[in-house]
Formats: sequence, structure tokens, C-alpha cells
Amino acid sequence: MKHKTIIEPFKIKSVEPIYVTTEQQRKEYLKAAKNNPFLLKSDQVIIDFLTDSGTSAMSAEQWAGIMRGDESYAGSKSWERMENAVKHLTGMEFILPTHQGRAAERIIYGHLGGSGKTFISNTHFDTTRANIEFSGAEALDIAISESNDPSLIHPFKGNIDIGRLENLINEKGAENIGAVILTVTNNSGGGQPVSMKNTREVSTICKKNNILLLLDCCRVAENAYFIKHREEGFEDKTYEEIAQEMFALTDGAAMSSKKDALVNMGGFLALRNKELAEACTMLLIITEGFATYGGLSGRDMEALAIGLKEVFDPSYLEYRIKSTAYLGEHLHKMGVPVMMPIGGHAVYIDAKKLYSHIPVNQYPGQALACELYKMAGIRTVEIGSVMFGKYDENGKLIPAPMELVRLAIPRRVYTQSHIEYVIETFDEILKTKDQIKGYKITKEPKFLRHFTAHFEEI
Ligand code: F0G
Repeated sequence: MKHKTIIEPFKIKSVEPIYVTTEQQRKEYLKAAKNNPFLLKSDQVIIDFLTDSGTSAMSAEQWAGIMRGDESYAGSKSWERMENAVKHLTGMEFILPTHQGRAAERIIYGHLGGSGKTFISNTHFDTTRANIEFSGAEALDIAISESNDPSLIHPFKGNIDIGRLENLINEKGAENIGAVILTVTNNSGGGQPVSMKNTREVSTICKKNNILLLLDCCRVAENAYFIKHREEGFEDKTYEEIAQEMFALTDGAAMSSKKDALVNMGGFLALRNKELAEACTMLLIITEGFATYGGLSGRDMEALAIGLKEVFDPSYLEYRIKSTAYLGEHLHKMGVPVMMPIGGHAVYIDAKKLYSHIPVNQYPGQALACELYKMAGIRTVEIGSVMFGKYDENGKLIPAPMELVRLAIPRRVYTQSHIEYVIETFDEILKTKDQIKGYKITKEPKFLRHFTAHFEEI
């Protein structure tokens, strides 16, 4: 018999309590957190969908690896295992361990960036953009136009717009392009996948123009799932083979391993070019740690090596993608405007459509994130004009293309009844939507303002 029900392909060995709070308590907590869910304490949260980053439940094998961790400063056995696992996956010769994704980004974009340089991506993640801009370079997002229409169905909405890529290279001059970066899956664009065909086309253009092509590969296993099930010619390949084929088209990769390596901390930079790797290794040693640990403990490296294999297990990936879709498709059926099709690691709500009475300069996404918390203790993140908005010279908001709220699902953490609780909450979100008010920012830092900004209800 073929079952319809996709079960969590694991048993639970160790549990953490969830503290149930009342709506009144949550209103007070949110007020104290200046209406920014990032400033809440974790025990004030019932379902934590803030991020899928570093929040995975590790397997018994990974915990066993933690005990085996070799904490030698240089030449640790655990590094050897991590290096082998990353080499096996990426096919790249030079692997640099980093404590997380943005450390890899700071090293590579700090080295390649600087004023006058342009970086082109389907969508730069916020830390990627910040590291590029901090170096003095510019970061341009050119995902296909379909990616900006949340309700439009397209199998590979994360793809880069090839025509715009060619135009930009001509306009800026190939020598001024720091790198082209494919983010798989496209996190800020709705967790949408990039096809192999698109990767191949981008790779050909980059090779022809002698431009570096890098993969931001945090969610490369989830991306491989979509390729296997949506792109012709990949039906019989394993998820790992698909990921390997994608890496083979690129010159390097940065990974926040806190996503698809199923660990709580870790990352790496993988490169083919020796000179580039040597320059980056020098920066690694100056700011992260020696080349055989780069800011990670031996135990972290051990868990990472194991997680990078586990993530490609077909029953895990099927459960992962289908359980995200279960939440998204239920919300869609109820009439909640969600980004379609449902992405790999998260469900994205179109807050501009849900709260169409709230103008973008009053941050409808922030309003929804606050409502979800007050109503049910669900912590989410705004991915819209709070995260990506800029100001023009008169201080007027230049809004982001979309006002999304992301419900990012930690890997192997929540069960179906947690998800049912979230679905039920949206009944109430829909009923009360016309009464919800917008927010204004009362305090913000210069970079990455969404982490620490303060808000007030209007
Ligand atoms: N690239 C992408 C596509 C990401 O999603 C992230 C992190 C990073 C780079 C940076 O990695 O956090 O290890 O330094 N994304 C997290 C998120 C924070 O919630 O989506 P990091």
C-alpha cells in the first residue's frame, strides 16, 4: 500500500519544553521587545518560525559525533572528516571552515569587493548584501520577473534573468563584476528553487566573460529536491548527484551550514582557484581561526560532516519539502495570500495583499509578525521593507518589491500538531485582518536594521 500520510521519518529521543503563555502576557512581552520579534526571549515564544538557521534537531549520530570531536588546534581528525564531506559534495579542492555563513561571506566578498565592483545575484540574502555593501561594492538582484508576483506559479521562481545578466555585464564591464552569486534556494525571494538549466546558462555566460560564479548553497539539498521533481532529466538521479552537478558548474561556494547541514553552528567556503583560496585563508586566519578549524569546535565540524550526508536522505527530504507544503497549501486553501508555489524551508505570506489597507511605509509585514505573536506566540520574520527598504535623499522610504512574512520551519523540530496549531491561528488572522494597524520605526541602526529596530503601532 502507498500511504498518503508523510510521517516524520524519525522518533524523538530528547525533548525541550514549550512554555505556554496567555495573550495578555504576550502583549506585554512584545511591548517590552519594542514590537520586534527578534528582541523576544525564546521562552516567550510557543512556535518559533523566526528562522530555519541553526535551529535543526541533530540526529543521534550527530550527537555521537559530538563526543568524538577532536579539539586539536591544528590538523584535527574532525576537520579531516568535515573537509572530506565538503570536498565530496562540492568537488572543490580548497575548503575553508568558518563559524557560519556570513563569516565566509565577509572573507570572500571583503576580498573580491571594494568600490567600483558590482555583484549580481538572483537575490542577495541580507547578510550577503551587507557584506558586499560594507566593502564599498554594489549588490544587484535580478531574479526573473515572475519572482516578484507572489501568486504566480512557476517551477523555478528563483532563476536569474539571463537577459538582464547579459545587459548588466555589458553595461558595467565584465572586469568590474566581483562575482555572480546564485542563491539556492532563493531565500529572500520566497525559498524558490533555481533550475539546473538556469545554472548552466549562468555558468556559460560567466565563463565566457571570465566572471567568477559562486553558489550560496545553504539550502542546496532542498533545491535538489525541486530539480529532481520538476526538471526533466533528473528523475533518476539522487539528490546528492544533482547537488554535485550544480557545484560542478560553479567556481566556488559559501555555505551557512546552519541550514542544510543540519547543525546549530558552522559554515564553509569552497573554492577551486588556488590563489583566491590562499588570499581567503590569510583572512580566515586573521579573523576566524587557523585553517583547520576556522572558528569551529572539533565537535561542530564532526556534526557538520554527518549532517551534510543525512540531509540528502530521500525520506528526510520528502518529509521536509512536503511538510512545508502541507502548511502552505492549507493556508492557501483558507484564502491566506501565500507565495506560490510553496518554497522549501518556509511559507511566505504576502502581507501587502493580506493587509491591503496598510501602506508599505507602515510595514504591513511587521504588523502581521506582531499579530501572529500576540495571537498565538508564533514568532516569524518580516521580509519586506523593514529588511530591505532604503531611504532616498529626502528620507522617503524606497520600499522592497514585496512585503512578505516568513514562517521558516526548523528542520526535524516540530510535529504535525504544531503545524495544525499554526493553521488554526490563521482563521483568526483572516477574521481580524481589517482592524490591524500599521507600524512606524522609532529607532534603527544603519545596517541590517530588522534585527534591532524598535517599532510603534500607528
Ligand atoms: N545566505 C543565505 C541564503 C542565508 O539564508 C543566510 C542566513 C546566510 C547566507 C548567512 O548565513 O546566518 O550562517 O551567517 N540566513 C538565516 C535566515 C539567518 O534566517 O534565513 P549565517
